[in-house]
Amino acid sequence: MNKEDFNMLDSVVYLDNAATTLKPRVLSDAVSDYYNNYSANASRGDYKIALLVDDKINDTRCKVKDFINASSSDEIIFTSGTTDSLNKIVFGYFKYNLKSGDSVLITKAEHASNVLPWFELADELSLDIDYIPLNDNYSVTLDNIKKVIKPNTKVISLAYVTNVIGDIRPIKEIIEYAHKNNVLVVIDGAQAVPHMRIDVQELDIDFLAFSAHKMCGPTGVGVLYGKKSLLDNMYPTTFGGGMNASFTFDRERTYKSLPSKLEAGTINIAGIIGFGKVLNYINEIGIDNINKYEQELHKYAIEKLDSIDNVVIYNKDVDTPIITFNYKDIFPQDLAIYLDKYNICVRAGNHCAKMLKDELKIKNTVRATLYFYNTKEDIDRLYDALSNTNIMNELL
Ligand code: ALA
Repeated sequence: MNKEDFNMLDSVVYLDNAATTLKPRVLSDAVSDYYNNYSANASRGDYKIALLVDDKINDTRCKVKDFINASSSDEIIFTSGTTDSLNKIVFGYFKYNLKSGDSVLITKAEHASNVLPWFELADELSLDIDYIPLNDNYSVTLDNIKKVIKPNTKVISLAYVTNVIGDIRPIKEIIEYAHKNNVLVVIDGAQAVPHMRIDVQELDIDFLAFSAHKMCGPTGVGVLYGKKSLLDNMYPTTFGGGMNASFTFDRERTYKSLPSKLEAGTINIAGIIGFGKVLNYINEIGIDNINKYEQELHKYAIEKLDSIDNVVIYNKDVDTPIITFNYKDIFPQDLAIYLDKYNICVRAGNHCAKMLKDELKIKNTVRATLYFYNTKEDIDRLYDALSNTNIMNELL
């Protein structure tokens, strides 16, 4: 779908979409329009082009609100990415709402960004970090959560879709159960929001983090969604211009209301305006169409790759476009370099999920990840390269 909108697809088979997606021309057009034609700061000027910038930032905020069905645009905070959003949630909200002995539930399949901020806060406040056991196929179930939840569990923090296995967590039932037990739920949506419809109100999500660059948007723009009642109680983690209402020599200060209080300094104006255009673009294709198309392509890819004797796939049964595999007796990075000779881009390594090796019993894998502009021809190119009987010699 829409392959013609991406210059880079003329030269490579791009299968590293979980790391970052390619960018359509509408993004670079919008970014360059801002830099060339109305490059003023946001929330600070009273002249026409400054007010135009404010309108466009507000427009993107409203588009994000609609995209995830938040109840108010005040619940949408622009950050630099998922990592920044999760850090703000942990150090801006939970630092002030957890106490020594409270427990945070995560899994060993989480990305570093949903682990390390919690480790840091656990050290600072003497929290417990507990792990939800994973099933044989590395998935999370509500029953597994029930096995480890404790009276002092205060937060469950999970990826909606994990970045290596690509399993979809049963978020709705987890959140329902968590809320009945007065537990808040943080969702790392980095691998979910670009691929499937997310309705934060229907799911009753407390906090959600995701990145623009994994959905055709710019790097350096992320979203922190939080229920207004929670964000109102969130303390800023960065301080400075744009977020304060007043301050005096004797340190009296007041901070603005949402969303400004959580967006100190000059935000990524060009990126946010570009993200707005990208959301129009994604909406024109339709997130449900993207999801359906990806599922078909994923099924095709699994069938093809599974037919190659030396390929071991670790996550055949998932419904997301993440395919994690190894080639017998070839080190994953070597395989990625071999595929690059054929201009096929995949990621190899531990993919920032460094605790998953305890479950997978293998440290490194190769990961091919799809987006809506990939085609069956891309999969055939990967299949042909992996079925090459001369692969060992070509590695030498
Ligand atoms: N989180 C990104 C990935 O999984 C970078 O590759």
